[in-house]
Amino acid sequence: MSPRIVVAGAVTSVDNRLLLAQRRYPATVAGLWELPGGKAEDDEDVKFALRRELREELDVGVEVGERLAETVALSDDLTLIALWARITDGVPRPVEHSRLRWVTAEELDKMVAGHQLVPADTVWVPELSGVLRRA
Ligand code: CDP
Repeated sequence: MSPRIVVAGAVTSVDNRLLLAQRRYPATVAGLWELPGGKAEDDEDVKFALRRELREELDVGVEVGERLAETVALSDDLTLIALWARITDGVPRPVEHSRLRWVTAEELDKMVAGHQLVPADTVWVPELSGVLRRA
């Protein structure tokens, strides 16, 4: 079987906040916060997959930009990537997550220090925090 891709959205707002979503399951990560996303279908374009996942999970339309630099090997057959995104249509609501939050760079750093992010997503924090601070 070819490795599957999990796409996650680094969704940012015009006032330099990042959208985080709190997981409900599984127990190992329930209550922790992540960049929303999910598994791409076989042969599905990653940008298309992210638009589909964020429509399903947040009920919004997004424009998808570049990939973040880091790639995470979740397991032998599951690879996690993230892409920048902006909401173009709708107001996000937590269809599958328990809550959503728009965080500043400072809030993101505090959440990381408090181990409130899912472990895999912490690799993106320097890049996320840098971009949120730069504008
Ligand atoms: O719902 P679906 O099976 O499409 O995807 P998921 O369960 O949300 O994510 C698949 C895997 O990627 C799980 O192991 C998640 O914990 C992981 N994941 C992650 O580490 N960070 C994210 N931002 C999104 C997913």
